[in-house]
Formats: sequence, structure tokens, C-alpha cells
Amino acid sequence: MSRDDTHLPKALQGLRIPLIASPLFIISVPKLVIAQCKAGIVGSFPALNAREGEGEHPLLDTWLTQIKEELDRHNQANPDRPAAPFAINQIVHRSNARLDRDLEICVKHEVPIWITSLGARIEVNEAAHSCGGVVLHDIINNRFAKKAIDKGADGLVAVAAGAGGHAGQQSPLALIQEIREWFDGPLALSGAIASGESLLAARAMGADFGYTGSAFIATDEANADQGYKDMIVESGAEDIVYSSLFTGVWGNYLRGSVENAGMDPDNLPQADASSMDFGTDREKPKAWKTIWGSGQGVGAVKSVGSAGSIVDRMEREYLAAGKKLAAEFG
Ligand SMILES: Cc1cc2nc3c(=O)[nH]c(=O)nc-3n(C[C@H](O)[C@H](O)[C@H](O)COP(=O)(O)O)c2cc1C
Repeated sequence: MSRDDTHLPKALQGLRIPLIASPLFIISVPKLVIAQCKAGIVGSFPALNAREGEGEHPLLDTWLTQIKEELDRHNQANPDRPAAPFAINQIVHRSNARLDRDLEICVKHEVPIWITSLGARIEVNEAAHSCGGVVLHDIINNRFAKKAIDKGADGLVAVAAGAGGHAGQQSPLALIQEIREWFDGPLALSGAIASGESLLAARAMGADFGYTGSAFIATDEANADQGYKDMIVESGAEDIVYSSLFTGVWGNYLRGSVENAGMDPDNLPQADASSMDFGTDREKPKAWKTIWGSGQGVGAVKSVGSAGSIVDRMEREYLAAGKKLAAEFG
């Protein structure tokens, strides 16, 4: 198989398979990001996951140093299979009081890929570009996609129905089709991609990359309770509940975790968007601490293993599915 990715920015070229591991609140920590990058796909984490105590050195700075050093060491030892670059997720929402400080730290470390969510802002794109970074902005419809590119993002993450966390409501088929009518830059598809077959489908639709989150929760390296990992393995699409109650933004959650918290997943009240808060003191109400996010694709996750084993499996499936289709086309 030879994939021509020379139309993409350098940082997004040469991945083992065209896959970006999405940033996961609390769950994505350096150990997971490093494992994803060493496995040959883009690994990522939300800057807000790095939280230091009062008066301590910024943990984001420490984490970035650790990730870069570890990947450098890997690349020196394995020049024939270097690690993929990593990405940082910035929540651009006005309640993120740390944003300016975090941008400064990311510019200092010359972060290669920036994933921005919840509001496109020109100055964030300028900060990323000032150190050679590529910006992918998260959107749930074509209108937001146009706005993001107008404000200077280089590419898009189209978050379709069925994605874990703050999911959209549109079919991936419709979303990608509408975006590709006017945009030929880097485009990742997010939502329920947990198998190599789904990754190939995303590529066939016109996306450059798949964007996978929930499958990486059931890994040894993920910072998640064992009960959460096990529930990902045990759950399928019908075990996912769509609700705005827990963060003020519509998202997908594991039905079992909602039940365990004493709530009825089929009768959840709605929240209003003003309850959205991504400040440094973002504490979940106690009753919601164990509400676990997940996308609809988790039926493909059959066991807890290493992050590298997920990439191995998805690569095997991607290649086999591609060969099968290629034969059909002669
Ligand atoms: C538990 C959880 C936490 C998430 N946290 C974030 C986050 O902090 N920032 C972000 O941009 N996306 C976040 N997402 C969304 C993912 O980036 C991505 O869109 C989604 O996981 C892809 O769908 P999938 O889970 O079906 O693979 C989160 C998703 C989950 C499941």
C-alpha cells in the first residue's frame, strides 16, 4: 500500500495509518500520548489535564518536556520507525482562565499540532503559527467549519453523531460531504471509529484521517478507573446515552455509569449552556464524578490492552479491508 499524503502539512505526513488519537479529559496523560506516538499515530492530550498545585511549576511545561525527551530517545534508537508527532488540545471557551499561559508554554515547546475546541479564535491560531504549529479545529457542522477556516485554522476535526464526549448530531456522511464541497485541506473525522474498517470508510468518504477516542480508554496507559475500562469493553452502541446534563454541552455517555450514579438514563433533564465551565477549578459535582463518556463505536473493543495493540489491530483491519475493496475495483 502506498498512501500519497504529500498534500498535507509536514507534521501530518507519514503516519503508520491515517489516525489521530483524540484528546480525552482526565484520561490522556503523557504515558498514553507517548505510547500512541511510538505506535505511529498522532497522540494528543488536553492542556487542561496538566494541573499543578497552588504555587507549583506549571505541570504542562513538565509534561511537554517529558513527551519530547521520550520521543527523541525513541527516534534515536529507532530511526527506521520514528514516532509520530503529538498534539495538544486547547479548550478556547471563555471559561478557560489558563488559556494565555498555556499558549505561551506551547509556543515555547514548539508544539507541532494544535487541536482547538469550543470556539475558534484568531489569536490562538496566530500563536500556533508563530512556532510552526498546525491547527485543527473541532466542529460539529458546516457553518462552524467555515467560521474556523475563516479565522485561520489550517484544518478541521468533524465531530459527527456517535462520538464520545461532546458529540455532534449530524451523520458523518453528510458532514464530510458538505465540508469537502469547499474545503480541500486537512480533515479528520471523529465519531465511533474504533476499527480499521471504519477508518477506511472515513477515508473513502473524503476524510484524510480518522480520529479515535473511546477505544483508547480501554488501554493499560489510560488514566481511567478499571471499572471504566471494563465498561467500555462490555458496552456496545445501544449502551450509549446522549445528554446535555453533565457539562452543559450535548455528549455521549455510558448508560451503565449513569445508572450506577442513581439516575435514569432514559429520563435525564437537560442543562442550559450557561453551566459550561472549563475553568481551572472545574470540579464535577460529586454525583457526576463517575459519569463516564464514550462514543458509539466501543462494540469493536473486546479487551483491555496496550495502546499499541489497538493501533496494531486497526492497521491489520484497515489493510485487509482495503485489499478486499481494491480487489472489487480490479
Ligand atoms: C471521556 C472523553 C473525554 C473527552 N475529552 C475531550 C477533551 O477534553 N477535549 C476534546 O477536544 N475532546 C474530548 N473528547 C472528544 C474526543 O476528542 C473525540 O471527539 C471523540 O472521543 C471521538 O469519538 P469516539 O470516542 O467515538 O472515538 C472526549 C471524549 C471522551 C470519550
